[in-house]
Amino acid sequence: MLFVIIVTSMILGSILTNFVRGHIIRMHGDFYSRTLSFDVNKLIEQGSQKDFTELISRLEASGQLVHARHIAIWNSKGTLLFGDGEFLLSSATRSGFRRALSGESDFQYLKISDKEPHNSEIAIFLPVMDTHGVVSGVIAFHESDTDLSVDLKVAERKIILYIFITGLTIYALLFMFYFRSYRQLRKATQRVEQSQDSIIFAMSSLSSLRDQETGGHLERCSKYVAILAENLRKTKQFKPYITKEYILTLASVAPLHDIGKVGVADAILRKPGKLTELEFEEMKRHSAMGSEILKMARNRLLFQSNLDLAIELTRHHHERWDGKGYPDSLSGGSIPLSARIMAIADVYDALRSERYYKTGLSHDESVKIILDGSGTQFDPELIRVFQSCHRDFESVFSFR
Ligand SMILES: [Fe+2]
Ligand SMILES: [Fe+2]
Repeated sequence: MLFVIIVTSMILGSILTNFVRGHIIRMHGDFYSRTLSFDVNKLIEQGSQKDFTELISRLEASGQLVHARHIAIWNSKGTLLFGDGEFLLSSATRSGFRRALSGESDFQYLKISDKEPHNSEIAIFLPVMDTHGVVSGVIAFHESDTDLSVDLKVAERKIILYIFITGLTIYALLFMFYFRSYRQLRKATQRVEQSQDSIIFAMSSLSSLRDQETGGHLERCSKYVAILAENLRKTKQFKPYITKEYILTLASVAPLHDIGKVGVADAILRKPGKLTELEFEEMKRHSAMGSEILKMARNRLLFQSNLDLAIELTRHHHERWDGKGYPDSLSGGSIPLSARIMAIADVYDALRSERYYKTGLSHDESVKIILDGSGTQFDPELIRVFQSCHRDFESVFSFR
């Protein structure tokens, strides 16, 4: 950004300096035009070469031509009346001459030599007006540009500095404004996210209350999926799919996985013994039902939200790698990654937990069961990563 401000300041400084240079030279020319027109006009009408020489000598002696080097005077027909021989019209200066003949002053730069490209002369062309305000001739000077260039170089540096300071100040103000807005926006976003998390937690608690599961199960599931996803992110295979944001979202929606249990009858949910085949079929409806509940909420939103991930995770967390799961009998990579991660987290916690129809298993027993399910129940690649981080699962469960 600093580079852009510096370059812009230099370009603007150079443009402004050139504008000022042109303005100064024109003012200078206008001054000459006004002071010399009366005397020169008289001579254009009736003067001799001698009269011209005398006039120029007089003007030089009175200091009115202090900057002029070579002088030439033409009449309105373009005939050279006076000139010191150096003032030849070239293709470059002819347009200035023509403009002066039409009543406007003009100037052109003349390079003195190729060895000194910055040391140039200016050819100034001025119209000479008669008493009726009609152009009666043209007077032209060669002036050195050196003094003006030195002065303007100093002015240009100052102009660039002022523009640079102004640019920097505007940038700093804009940055402060942007930073304040960004902080306010971030605060508002954080509040929305927190509200969203608490609503998700409240919704998921409904299912756990009915299922007699503790809220601990939901919180632990959040932590397991985050652990597994973070370790997956370290692998080449999953790194492109798993961002930090994905992990945060996955952890926040994981507690919703069994929300569909609110639609399962108490007699089935709280049955102390093994479920009959029919009861199990009824129980299996919870994943599809959960995703339908979440879809209803999602359809009320006009933007993408965490609910999209929650819907796929909820619907598919009981799918199996071999295609024998439910509700859609998806297999392999067609099962969404979120659901494949959730399946491992959910089963680990279910195996470890004590329910009224079973006791909890040890960490090693639970891990063994999960490893045995590699390639049948679970994604073998995920199980490979689970093998490297199952101790973290144990820490989460032990920290109840
Ligand atoms: Fe479930
Ligand atoms: Fe669960």
